[in-house]
Amino acid sequence: MRIQISSWLLLVCFCSSFFGLHPILVSGRCLDNQKVLLLALKNEVQFDSSLSTKLVGWNQSVDCCDWGGVACDKTGHVIGLDLSNESISGGFNGSSSVFSLGFLKSFNLAYNSFNSAQLPLGFGKLTQVSYLNLSNANFVGQIPGDFSSMKRLVTLDLSSSPYYTLVLENPDLKMLIQNLKEVRELHLDNMKISTHGYHWSGVISSSLPNLQVLSLKSCGLSGPLDSSLSMLKNLSVILLDENTFSSDIPESFGSLQNLRVLSLRACNLSGSLPKKIFQIPTLKTIDLSSNVILKGPLPEFPENGALENLLLSYTEVGGKLPDSIGNLPLLSRIELRGCKFTGPIPDSMKDLTHIVYLDLSSNHLTGSIPSFRLSKNLAYLNFYLNNLTGGIPSFQGLNSLQFLDLSYNSLNGDFPESLLALPSLEYVYLSNNRLSGQFRKDIDVSSYKLRILDLSSNKFVGPIPGFIFKLPVLSTLTLSENNFNGVVDLEMFGKFKELYALDLSYNDLTIKVNIGSKSSFSSELNTLKLASCKMQELPNLKNQSRLMMIDLSDNELRGEIPNWIWEVGNGYLRFLNLSSNKFSSLQKPYTFPFLLDVLDLHSNVLEGDIPIPPRRVYHLDYSNNNFGSSIPVNFGNVLTSTLFFSMSNSKLVGVIPQSIRNATSLRVLDLSHNTLTGPIPSIGNSKDLQSLDLSVNKLNGSIPVELANLSLLSFLNLSYNHLSGKIPQGSRFQTFTELSFKGNKELCGPPLKKSCDKKRI
Ligand SMILES: *[C@@H]1O[C@H](CO)[C@@H](O)[C@H](O)[C@H]1NC(C)=O
Ligand SMILES: *[C@@H]1O[C@H](CO)[C@@H](O)[C@H](O)[C@H]1NC(C)=O
Ligand SMILES: *[C@@H]1O[C@H](CO)[C@@H](O)[C@H](O)[C@H]1NC(C)=O
Ligand SMILES: *[C@@H]1O[C@H](CO)[C@@H](O)[C@H](O)[C@H]1NC(C)=O
Ligand SMILES: *[C@@H]1O[C@H](CO)[C@@H](O)[C@H](O)[C@H]1NC(C)=O
Ligand SMILES: *[C@@H]1O[C@H](CO)[C@@H](O)[C@H](O)[C@H]1NC(C)=O
Ligand SMILES: *[C@@H]1O[C@H](CO)[C@@H](O)[C@H](O)[C@H]1NC(C)=O
Ligand SMILES: *[C@@H]1O[C@H](CO)[C@@H](O)[C@H](O)[C@H]1NC(C)=O
Ligand SMILES: *[C@@H]1O[C@H](CO)[C@@H](O)[C@H](O)[C@H]1NC(C)=O
Ligand SMILES: *[C@@H]1O[C@H](CO)[C@@H](O)[C@H](O)[C@H]1NC(C)=O
Ligand SMILES: *[C@@H]1O[C@H](CO)[C@@H](O)[C@H](O)[C@H]1NC(C)=O
Ligand SMILES: *[C@@H]1O[C@H](CO)[C@@H](O)[C@H](O)[C@H]1NC(C)=O
Repeated sequence: MRIQISSWLLLVCFCSSFFGLHPILVSGRCLDNQKVLLLALKNEVQFDSSLSTKLVGWNQSVDCCDWGGVACDKTGHVIGLDLSNESISGGFNGSSSVFSLGFLKSFNLAYNSFNSAQLPLGFGKLTQVSYLNLSNANFVGQIPGDFSSMKRLVTLDLSSSPYYTLVLENPDLKMLIQNLKEVRELHLDNMKISTHGYHWSGVISSSLPNLQVLSLKSCGLSGPLDSSLSMLKNLSVILLDENTFSSDIPESFGSLQNLRVLSLRACNLSGSLPKKIFQIPTLKTIDLSSNVILKGPLPEFPENGALENLLLSYTEVGGKLPDSIGNLPLLSRIELRGCKFTGPIPDSMKDLTHIVYLDLSSNHLTGSIPSFRLSKNLAYLNFYLNNLTGGIPSFQGLNSLQFLDLSYNSLNGDFPESLLALPSLEYVYLSNNRLSGQFRKDIDVSSYKLRILDLSSNKFVGPIPGFIFKLPVLSTLTLSENNFNGVVDLEMFGKFKELYALDLSYNDLTIKVNIGSKSSFSSELNTLKLASCKMQELPNLKNQSRLMMIDLSDNELRGEIPNWIWEVGNGYLRFLNLSSNKFSSLQKPYTFPFLLDVLDLHSNVLEGDIPIPPRRVYHLDYSNNNFGSSIPVNFGNVLTSTLFFSMSNSKLVGVIPQSIRNATSLRVLDLSHNTLTGPIPSIGNSKDLQSLDLSVNKLNGSIPVELANLSLLSFLNLSYNHLSGKIPQGSRFQTFTELSFKGNKELCGPPLKKSCDKKRI
């Protein structure tokens, strides 16, 4: 076999010199020793042959220069080896055959999984290498010292994911790069680089005069960010996100005339936006988001600037959006979420023909929404939480629009029916505006992709719009808090096979439930909110295995709370609100689902034993019922995670159990308006208690002194009991929003007028 290949090689050499052909076009030029080294490498490393696409195919019957990932020069030496993403997991050490491939110029081992192995010594032998890529290969630990011997390096990529950390300590950054004068691309993302203060920047600018790409994201670098990098005139990509510079951005970066990308996200930058940088004619991407104290107005943009991505979310940048933003013909992504922008959205933005993604949410913008008629590529438009007024434009022709969020503004007028003609639309949020009017019966719908429609908290009237029932993949429908009216048969919603959440609460609707019917919702249903819908029957939810939130409050439901309800969602029910109905008991036997967080049964006519809630419940409201019984002795022991507990006005008798002292997370405790007797137990362990109402009972004894020590307490009502003795002092009572001790005849001391004269205490 070997002889055969060698003679073939001779033939190629002969032919090529004879006919003057370029031998690179001819196969069969693999040098024997190179093939031996590559086969040895294949044997050394452990890899998963079912995931490998290159190594697995290396075999004798094929010329090694044609093997996957192998590149040769014209003399048959291996000069390129790309073993990226080959699921190699080990077997790569200092004696690896790779280090004998003396002609190697390009070596890529990225995206393998070396199981947190150290990088071996040996790279120093690769003196010809100009491209080395070990990114995301799951190596950890110190970079070996001989890396600095690869003096021909032009591109070095040692980036990794945040979980696997390479370290540059000894040698440090300076020792590594000071001899690598040729480097043009340096990627060390997520490497732990120890340097003194800001010196890293000077080390780079003095060592790497040809640098074009610098990527040191999340390297633990400190600031201040100094101007030395601006000496690197060819620098075109700067990616330094997630380092803590705590300084201004040097204005001198504006002199980098080749700068294309500047990304300094989450660097604790301060000061104001450097104006000159925005004038750089080549600048395509600027990302300064999540620098929460970075200020400044946006500067004017140059005519025909190259800017494509403007990312300044979560900064203090604000003021008016400049009209000149419309001068940027290539702008495709604007993220200015959570900034301080005021004033109108410039009309010039309608000229942004390349815009794809526009997020101006959570600002203070006023005025009306431009038409964006020319923005044919617009896919994402988010103006959530501003002060925009006027109507919703028709958005005609925006055939790429998928996501539209205009919620929490002051928009008025009708629902723009033309929205329903946009073929790509999937998500529409219009809640919390002042939209009004009635829907026509016969609206054409071509938005067959619409998945989420939120019209809640507006002023819509009339029946539930018919077009909704033409939407085949609707998954979330929120119509709550409008004035929709009419009678609705709940079975209508059975046609949505992907229905995930339905909220029709707080309208003027009458919902009819056909009790005989089979399970009527999609099996995907997660949330069902039908508060205030004049319902007289519980819908059949027995088979809803994914249902986790149910709100059927403020209806006309009566009788027993059926015990199947606790099994809804396969026992994963998290939220149940059946308040303001006429339920009189819980069907027995019942077991509460153990994940139940919120249980609201207030304002019913429940009688008898008080149900013991599951241990995780954080909001428990049993108030306004007719229990007529006493609180079980151990009740407080299941309230250890509970923040809110009310049983006011529920005809409770007996004492407040001592176990209440174990309810240490309580913020609100309300047992007012019952006939509880005996003392107030110690609740000094509930350090977060903000509101305590035990008024209108028959509690006696003295007020526990620890109450005065609860530093968050600001609402305290103990009025109309039989309490006696001195009100505990030294507290912050002056600052309370509500404080009452009246109607306790035997109580004395400030803030009551009655002083504690010596005889009585
Ligand atoms: C060698 O590799 C070639 C191409 O990948 C393949 O067609 C051939 O079956 C392989 N031969 C052996 C012996 O594995
Ligand atoms: C690695 O290869 C797998 C297929 O084997 C592919 O799905 C994945 O995207 C590749 N990853 C990278 C980073 O190239
Ligand atoms: C390096 O790996 C090879 C092949 O996996 C192995 O035979 C050799 O013992 C290893 N050498 C060291 C120093 O670990
Ligand atoms: C390193 O290799 C990976 C995988 O092939 C690639 O995604 C990445 O861009 C490369 N890095 C450089 C600097 O070429
Ligand atoms: C910058 O790049 C140009 C062209 O690629 C090159 O001629 C010049 O020498 C480089 N300048 C520096 C300072 O490296
Ligand atoms: C952020 O920078 C400011 C100075 O601009 C500094 O006072 C503050 O401590 C820094 N915060 C962090 C988390 O480093
Ligand atoms: C909207 O305007 C009102 C009144 O001017 C103001 O109170 C409110 O904070 C503004 N909201 C936003 C999100 O700017
Ligand atoms: C639950 O679903 C099963 C099969 O999917 C069906 O036979 C049964 O009638 C349903 N039960 C109720 C109460 O809807
Ligand atoms: C339950 O519903 C009532 C009436 O609809 C409402 O006032 C209450 O806030 C709801 N409870 C919870 C915990 O959301
Ligand atoms: C509080 O909880 C602890 C641990 O569960 C228990 O031992 C103790 O008896 C409880 N206290 C009261 C007063 O029930
Ligand atoms: C509180 O009232 C009960 C009777 O309800 C009585 O037994 C007890 O002695 C009273 N305690 C005080 C301190 O007055
Ligand atoms: C109230 O707090 C003070 C100071 O922290 C402490 O000395 C005192 O013992 C506390 N009193 C009670 C009853 O916990």
